[in-house]
Amino acid sequence: MTKTVARTDWHPASWQALTAAQQANYPDSAALDRAVDELSRLPPIVTSWEVDRLSAEMARAQRGEVFILQGGDCAETFAECTSENIVAKLKILLQMSLVMLYGMKKPVVRVGRMAGQYAKPRSADTETRDGETLPSFRGDLINRNPFTADDRVPDPQLILRGYERAALTLNFVRSLIDGGFADLHHPEYWDLNWVGHSPMAKEFHAIVASISDSLDFLETVAERPLHKTHRADIYAAHEGLHLRYEQAQTRYLDRRERWYNLTTHFPWIGMRTSSLDGAHIEYFRGIANPIGVKIGTSMTREWIQSLIEVLNPNNEPGRLTLIHRFGAKAIEEHLPDLITAVSETGSPVLWVCDPMHGNTETTADGIKTRRFNNILSELDAAFRVHESMGSILGGVHLELTGEDVTECTGGARGLTDSDLARAYKSTVDPRLNYEQAMEIALRIAGKHQHRF
Ligand code: PEP
Ligand code: CO
Repeated sequence: MTKTVARTDWHPASWQALTAAQQANYPDSAALDRAVDELSRLPPIVTSWEVDRLSAEMARAQRGEVFILQGGDCAETFAECTSENIVAKLKILLQMSLVMLYGMKKPVVRVGRMAGQYAKPRSADTETRDGETLPSFRGDLINRNPFTADDRVPDPQLILRGYERAALTLNFVRSLIDGGFADLHHPEYWDLNWVGHSPMAKEFHAIVASISDSLDFLETVAERPLHKTHRADIYAAHEGLHLRYEQAQTRYLDRRERWYNLTTHFPWIGMRTSSLDGAHIEYFRGIANPIGVKIGTSMTREWIQSLIEVLNPNNEPGRLTLIHRFGAKAIEEHLPDLITAVSETGSPVLWVCDPMHGNTETTADGIKTRRFNNILSELDAAFRVHESMGSILGGVHLELTGEDVTECTGGARGLTDSDLARAYKSTVDPRLNYEQAMEIALRIAGKHQHRF
């Protein structure tokens, strides 16, 4: 890796001079240009002041004052853009954050992998079944999942359908929140079906009751309702993979004198597109959003230091999040050196643990899964290593759903490989179901409570 990359004039299309990994081959490039042009004239999905507010929250998370909970599907699908699904995702994020707030005694900032998480990197450009080879499925923003030649051709119109669904999703989330859905006085709104019969129901209800009591007490003392200040916000995040899509909604705001990607609050760079001389790093360095980079076992000291230099040259707090995903077996070996390398730069970063992507495995039947114990063990190690090195783990990044799927094994119900066939819905990576996600939240909460 070269240490310094000379970079001068950035503009939203400057990435086009570099190699862009993981981009689809559109057979009709004029049709793609027309779709991108239409997209660039549509209004933004988020606003710059929301983006700036999240940067400020990220800066607080770097200092350990708040904790970031980032979660959602590996890949959202157009078909699952339904009221039930959005509500279930919102509920699980709210419930988890409530439990974590209680245990960690600090505010929890919720960031959904939602409202735009429609493009996926793939390990191979093509897929072969029974002797037939077709382009890989790259997410609903690009092509369609069924294994037919027609479905797998990248379709430029899908970027418009994806933009629309992202906007519909965020619009519904905002309406729910404005209507009081996320008010801490009414956590009973967030009950999912599991609460009645789950092994964790008792613990969850005890936490809810305790928080309601505390709020009542505070309001009595303060002689005014506190609920306005206790309303939860939700931010949107997705992997900024499809650069024509991201570029189309990148706007210069005169008042702020900066460019913003207004498709989402928090775009991140995936592990397969973080090459220093690649197009993704070039695009991301010029936008004012808080940005994330996924960090795996191939990351080196020099590479991470150069990433910081290029992506956050002015050492702005809240600007850069490093999302590490090594796997339970590799984290202790890789994380300490990288923490040292980062601290040598003196630049502030937010460390977030993604305990999912380093722990993917394939069962004897060829099904992609993750073992709950490996996820927990990577998370435990992340807290332990950061604490021992004097750095701060400021958040977690999870693939989860509010539904009762069977995609990851283990957890309180002891799901095994033979349960996977029952309710495996993800088109890409296996997600925690609502119970497993709550168990993670209770674990994080419990771990912190024992410290006091
Ligand atoms: C993902 O977050 O779904 C993903 C592909 O992760 P990574 O880039 O860390 O492999
Ligand atoms: Co994934």
